[in-house]
Amino acid sequence: MRRICALDEIAEGAARGFEWGRGISQRAAIVIKRGETLLAYENVCPHAGTPLDWRPDQFFDASGKWLQCATHAALFQVEDGVCVSGPCVGDKLWPMTIEVRDGDVYLTEAPTDEELEKERQERLARVAKRLGSS
Ligand code: FES
Repeated sequence: MRRICALDEIAEGAARGFEWGRGISQRAAIVIKRGETLLAYENVCPHAGTPLDWRPDQFFDASGKWLQCATHAALFQVEDGVCVSGPCVGDKLWPMTIEVRDGDVYLTEAPTDEELEKERQERLARVAKRLGSS
């Protein structure tokens, strides 16, 4: 379990990015606060593996409805991380499990290095398939 911030550090309706670790062990998460709901995803686009934010903590498109990747503008549903527009439609952001305890937000389950590597390999295979079919 990893404490990532105090709950009141995330404004209502906003998303914030958090990073920890270094080098190959570096991880990044997006935490989104919508009313009583907190959601978290790994901050890695399923299309090409880049972070979604175009500036620190800037994850939403202009409408404020969709999470948007800064690299090629894919749009993702907030509630489940599914890509609905862009080059990776149908792919998903990797969900992370979070919990609030005594006013602090904790990541309770994050993907392991092995899971991330497997996901990255699957992403690469999907990209290669797309490129091969176009
Ligand atoms: S890297 Fe995110 S849409 Fe291409």
